[in-house]
Amino acid sequence: MVEHRIGNPMQTVLDYLRLDLRHRGTKEGCNEGDCGACTVAIGRLRGGKVCYEPANACIMLMAHLHGCELVTVDDLSPDGRLHPVQQAMVDHHGSQCGFCTPGFVMSLFTLYHAGGKPGRQDIANQIAGNLCRCTGYRPIIAAAADACRGEPNDLWAGAADEIAAELGKLNDSVDVFCGTGESFAAVPARAETLLDLAARHPDATLVAGATDVGLWITKQMRSLPKLIFTGRVEALHAITDRVATLSLGSAVTYAEAQGHLAALAPDMGEVLRRLGSVQVRSSGTIGGNIANGSPIGDMPPMLIALGARIMLRKGDEQRDLQLEDYFIDYGKQDRKPGELLWRIDIPKLKSNERFFAHKLSKRFDQDISAVMAAFRFTISGRSIASAVIAFGGMAATPRRARHTEEALKGLKLDAPETWEAAAATLAKDYKPLTDMRASASYRLDTAQALLLKALHELVGERPAALRVLAPAGKEAWT
Ligand SMILES: Cc1cc2nc3c(=O)[nH]c(=O)nc-3n(C[C@H](O)[C@H](O)[C@H](O)COP(=O)(O)OP(=O)(O)OC[C@H]3O[C@@H](n4cnc5c(N)ncnc54)[C@H](O)[C@@H]3O)c2cc1C
Ligand code: FES
Ligand code: FES
Repeated sequence: MVEHRIGNPMQTVLDYLRLDLRHRGTKEGCNEGDCGACTVAIGRLRGGKVCYEPANACIMLMAHLHGCELVTVDDLSPDGRLHPVQQAMVDHHGSQCGFCTPGFVMSLFTLYHAGGKPGRQDIANQIAGNLCRCTGYRPIIAAAADACRGEPNDLWAGAADEIAAELGKLNDSVDVFCGTGESFAAVPARAETLLDLAARHPDATLVAGATDVGLWITKQMRSLPKLIFTGRVEALHAITDRVATLSLGSAVTYAEAQGHLAALAPDMGEVLRRLGSVQVRSSGTIGGNIANGSPIGDMPPMLIALGARIMLRKGDEQRDLQLEDYFIDYGKQDRKPGELLWRIDIPKLKSNERFFAHKLSKRFDQDISAVMAAFRFTISGRSIASAVIAFGGMAATPRRARHTEEALKGLKLDAPETWEAAAATLAKDYKPLTDMRASASYRLDTAQALLLKALHELVGERPAALRVLAPAGKEAWT
């Protein structure tokens, strides 16, 4: 093991690699988590085994690496022999200018170590966060399929037990604090230390996955002298699956939550597949997506429609509130200085409830929503007894459509001619903005269309208007 000393806790992993270590295989493209040129692999212990996940080094901070193994493209061929993934890229002509190639190689390294035999869609999902301008994706997909045919057989697979033992030693309960009272990076392991630090330093920046905070540093050039990292506290990573409720600690990543949320409602799984990229989902957290108060975050509308509650803690105090009440206004949330978002409790669907969620964005993969819609209908016989509807991208906060919910009450599932009037009520609930993602009229029109689509799905039909939009011979959706 090599000892590394870091001077600046705000430093990104990419800057440390390229500027301090002069390991320049890892590339800098966008510097905001979008292009994947800076992808590195992070090894973590999960259930006693080492798992490798891809991460964007440009928005990952050095303190995130505590207790992890970092593998970069510069590590892959220490004896000059290419790693199987690199060799497959050569064999299938997967590189032209080569700028994106180290990032692709590291994304595929993590796929290689996931084992199994990934299908075309698995490979496409894996590289959705890696952009290539010249080669095109066909040869890269072929290289991935070729490299990932069998069980992993490289230096890391050979040393898996040794690496697991080293990581086991690092995953202790020792709190880490670097710096002074005025400027520091704290990486506490114990819940009490985290609560104490947050209460004593209400001006500190809480950092979970830094898929937002990282950009404050690299794009907004903000100075963040006090950083408190939440990721090592076990309670914040807890996933508790009970009969009626799924509870997620606030630092549970999208990747960790994905299977549980998909089991709760398949549409949530599908939205998560399209949220960011594999790199973003392995770092970004459900709690960060709520705490940032964004009006266009994907999770809040779905969680609000499901009736989720959140638990907040400050020192010994704790309080519980309905998630929808957390979002007060644009940039204003119901969170006191020094208070931490601790846990999210999500009620499971009852037998007479149905849930639908749809994300509208210009690109299918890795794009921020223009409109994010979520619907929960309670059915009684052939009528809608009640509905909970929440939208993102339609107002200054993720918000419920109370007038429309009222208009849907008692609506007959066998009377689709009555649905449009109810959908038109959305104009009473929202006065959306025009911005670079969409115009106000597009947002309102598509919100109404999404509600109608959900109602058609509720009765098990595909809406004719949307079927017509599919190219000849193709299904509109699968
Ligand atoms: C390339 C890219 C693509 C993206 N795509 C999407 C997308 O498709 N959909 C989407 O919704 N988002 C997207 N995002 C945004 C981002 O992934 C989310 O907002 C993410 O959930 C933030 O979580 P985090 O753990 O990274 O939070 P951080 O960046 O660490 O923190 C975000 C905010 O939450 C605060 N915070 C964190 N933890 C706590 C806590 N426990 N208590 C109180 N406050 C806390 C921080 O102080 C900060 O204000 C994307 C981001 C990138 C870079
Ligand atoms: S440099 Fe583009 S994702 Fe990091
Ligand atoms: S090979 Fe040139 S960007 Fe991908």
